[in-house]
Formats: sequence, C-alpha cells, structure tokens
Amino acid sequence: MSNHSCPSGSAKTLVIVAHPDLEASRINKRLTVELERRGNVTVHRLYETYPDEKIDVAHEQALLMTHDRIVLQFPLFWYNSPALLKKWLDEVFELGFAHGKGGDKLKGKELLIAISTGGAQSMYQAGGLHNYSYSELLRPFQQTANYTGMIYRPHFVVSGIREVSDEQLEKYATDYANYVERCFNSNNK
Ligand SMILES: Cc1cc2nc3c(=O)[nH]c(=O)nc-3n(C[C@H](O)[C@H](O)[C@H](O)COP(=O)(O)O)c2cc1C
Repeated sequence: MSNHSCPSGSAKTLVIVAHPDLEASRINKRLTVELERRGNVTVHRLYETYPDEKIDVAHEQALLMTHDRIVLQFPLFWYNSPALLKKWLDEVFELGFAHGKGGDKLKGKELLIAISTGGAQSMYQAGGLHNYSYSELLRPFQQTANYTGMIYRPHFVVSGIREVSDEQLEKYATDYANYVERCFNSNNK
C-alpha cells in the first residue's frame, strides 16, 4: 500500500456520525474512535451534540463551510439514515445555503457516505434478500450531492455486522480511516 497523501494538504474533512446510541454500538463506535485517534479530521457526534434533537442550523452550516470533505457515517436503518441525520439534512441544506438563489455554499465539496448494515453484502443485489445494491439504495444521497454541486465519492460499507469478527472489525476501522485520510481515493483503500 502506497503512502499516498491528499493532493491539497490543507483540505479539511468533517465526519458527521449519526448513531442514536454510539456507546452501545459495536461497528460505528470502533470506526469513530479510530478516526478520533488519528486526529486529522473533525468528528461530529450528532446525537450526542443534540440530545433534544434541536439542531443549531447556523453552527452546522458554519462547520460545513470550514470543511472541504464531508462524511456522513451511520448505521443503515430501514434502507435509510437514522432520523436525526434526515432532520439535519432537511434543516441544514436549506434554500439560500445549499440550493436556490445564493445557495452555492456546498458547491465543489466532496461527499462520502459510510454505512454499516446488518445484512450481508450478498443480500444487497437483485434477487438477494434486500434486492437492491448499496449504490441504488443510497441514490437520494447521490442526487442530493448532484443537486447541491457536491462531488459524490464511492461509499464505504461495513456489511453483515453479525459475521464481522473482532479482527475483521480492526481491519475495517483501519481501511476506513485510511480512506478518509487519503481523500476518498479508492485506489488507496
Ligand atoms: C431501526 C433499525 C433498522 C434497521 N434497518 C436495517 C436495514 O434496513 N438494513 C440492514 O442491513 N440493517 C438494518 N438494521 C441493522 C443495523 O444497520 C445494524 O444493527 C447496525 O449497522 C450496526 O451498527 P452498530 O454496531 O454501529 O450499531 C437496522 C437496525 C435498526 C435498529
């Protein structure tokens, strides 16, 4: 594996972790701790910041404005994000900020979706238990990126969480942190 670094060294990455009970989590907790241990990215624990689910929109927009790469990390809940992240998107990506007149503040930023799923990867294909691929199910995020002028990057998935051994989880955590640190460059995963 090459020791690739980001082309623009000053680019900053914001990782928004949306897990309703991160302490009880196995996968997202480990991924989050690994990112925090490396210290090169801003990790924002959404549910811990807003236990009352009242989002400070101005604060969130300011955070987005000061970062170039945005990661949305969450466990897949009913083929979607946990509710607070949807609320965050609805409120923070508002008219005049993310779209419409003057709404170009996210233009050119990169977006990465990082998810964990209970179902195994083989279930996420035509004919499998969940029928659709991760790319198909994550389409609303991809189109949100398109619509707001963001650059959508290849997703990162930890799938089949029951079958993931402690050793495999360590590798996932390392691969994930490398992927985020190396500017979502999939050739360097
Ligand atoms: C409300 C709810 C909905 C879920 N929906 C899905 C789903 O649609 N697909 C899936 O593969 N797993 C689903 N799961 C399993 C979670 O994705 C899984 O428990 C989580 O990714 C594990 O991550 P953690 O160890 O960080 O909690 C669901 C779990 C809950 C609690």
